[in-house]
Amino acid sequence: MCGIVAYTGHREAYPVLLKGLKRLEYRGYDSAGIALLNGGLNVYKKKGKVTDLETSLKDQHLHSTVGIGHTRWATHGQPNDVNAHPHYSGSGRIAIIHNGIIENYSALKQELSNKGHRFLSETDSEVLVHFIEDVQTHSNCSLEEAIRLALQQVVGAYAIVVISKDHPDTLFAARKGSPLVIGVGKGEHFLASDATPIIEYTNDVIYLDDLEIAVITRESVNIKNLEDVRTTPYIHTLELELEAIEKGGYDHFMLKEIFEQPRSVGDSMRGRINSAKGHLLLGGLRDYLNKLVNAKRVVILGCGTSWHAGLVAEYVFEEFARIPVEVEYASEFRYRNPIINEGDVVIAISQSGETADTLAAIELAKSKGAIIFGVCNVVGSSIPRATHAGAYTHAGPEIGVASTKAFTAQVTVLTMMAIIVAKAKGTITESLYRELLVEMESIPAKIQKILDKHAQIEYIADVFKDARNFLFLGRGYNFPVALEGALKLKEISYIHAEGYPAAEMKHGPIALIDEEMPVVFIATKDSSYEKVVSNIQEVRARKGRVLAVVTENDGLIESMAEFVIEIPHTHETLVPLLSVVPLQLLAYHIAVMRGCNVDQPRNLAKSVTVE
Ligand code: G6P
Repeated sequence: MCGIVAYTGHREAYPVLLKGLKRLEYRGYDSAGIALLNGGLNVYKKKGKVTDLETSLKDQHLHSTVGIGHTRWATHGQPNDVNAHPHYSGSGRIAIIHNGIIENYSALKQELSNKGHRFLSETDSEVLVHFIEDVQTHSNCSLEEAIRLALQQVVGAYAIVVISKDHPDTLFAARKGSPLVIGVGKGEHFLASDATPIIEYTNDVIYLDDLEIAVITRESVNIKNLEDVRTTPYIHTLELELEAIEKGGYDHFMLKEIFEQPRSVGDSMRGRINSAKGHLLLGGLRDYLNKLVNAKRVVILGCGTSWHAGLVAEYVFEEFARIPVEVEYASEFRYRNPIINEGDVVIAISQSGETADTLAAIELAKSKGAIIFGVCNVVGSSIPRATHAGAYTHAGPEIGVASTKAFTAQVTVLTMMAIIVAKAKGTITESLYRELLVEMESIPAKIQKILDKHAQIEYIADVFKDARNFLFLGRGYNFPVALEGALKLKEISYIHAEGYPAAEMKHGPIALIDEEMPVVFIATKDSSYEKVVSNIQEVRARKGRVLAVVTENDGLIESMAEFVIEIPHTHETLVPLLSVVPLQLLAYHIAVMRGCNVDQPRNLAKSVTVE
């Protein structure tokens, strides 16, 4: 939520910032703004998308080699020009961009107002830059020192970048809870919320840690912690390719990411599975594998789509590894007094690796002595660094706000984890183990077969695009898929949709069914197939419109449903990797046909770094 980009070096800063903001727009798109140092300190900002800012600046000559940029997901104050970042300090000599929430901002604002400070916006961020200036004036110290002293009194989360008229080529940056990456070039440095605005220029990055302050000029990066102790930065070399963060000919990132799944699921397994040799290995788990093998209970934490992946993992872990599993919304877990006993293991799932609630839940579980495994996509993000061990999903950058390839990659990795533990515990037979490895390796080609039915799904989308409600029903392994299908549709098309366990339909949702209600059944040939067929009959009896995802050559449901979408057969435990794909495509096409912005749905952000 909120994207930050900054530059100091030998290039024109404005194009670097503008391009960077476009890459970070998935983090928030309520407003955008930049500040440039060019003798003066000038702020330009606008409600709306980055292109609105660009249009408003098209006749300006914006020459500067130092600047900051921000794209906002509103927390305090409406999305408008005034609340857009950057914000000036009271004297106008300092400007700030901020991602996060300053929780004690109203007390600080009151204190500063009593001293005569006047605020233009309703934001917590403007309060912070006034506070920094106030500290500097009253302590008569350097700006760096003032930032440190001010941040010591701040409660909340932040990634900030500050520039000042008095420091013509310097960026001051600090973080706690919200991410910041420094790009290291030759005679130039970049700063951003993630590496996507940076990799066009350099692959060398430094991840700023919580409670660190960096003072960055063209030539140098100096990092200290909030106690003023210098730390030695470690330069990571990223393997990210520029083309991975571009649309590559697709109309939308979401469509590109759906179509990437044969590759991304393959990448999740690459070097980890070899069915011919009977090998399955997740290098990141090795040192802590015995903790999982001996776990008395597994607690899975996540939010949104990652929570749905956790539900699939619950079924797989219990089935194969015979360990009791609880799946928790991280946001709920962190605010009750959860019981963590000796022998409990926590698995935290997150695409971005930055979700504030998941991070806080991890810290809580850690404080109670749990061993934490992470399943994350973004390399070097906060969650992998906060966990004891884990495995990256290797899906590649996911930019569409609605998660697609990250989900299938998460399920792939979690399934591999469950099989590894089951093998080590001896809770699956050698022949099932071998069969699962072969089946897993066949998944990418099977996803491709579903993607080849793209035109059929587009046709079905056209039939249902004007529906006002949708029900998604599934059982067993397809229950989490029903939840995920409903989430995809509601978040990008704004059609109200609910996912339900098919048998629970009788306890409420059946009352909603009439001749206008589309009901999507995920009715693959598995152990609950017959039961789901009965549920389809119940919907038909009430004139509901049935659309079913079925296994190839099903032969039966075709006669009951208005439409069927066939998916290839696979082992029951792996079905979610296939059955979710038509639902992603259905949501995508309906949203496009309704004229929605699928990559940047209203009110949402991809990386939720505030609670
Ligand atoms: C946001 C995104 C979702 C995502 C969820 C959890 O709501 O829009 O797509 O599933 O956050 O994010 P994470 O990065 O932790 O998986």
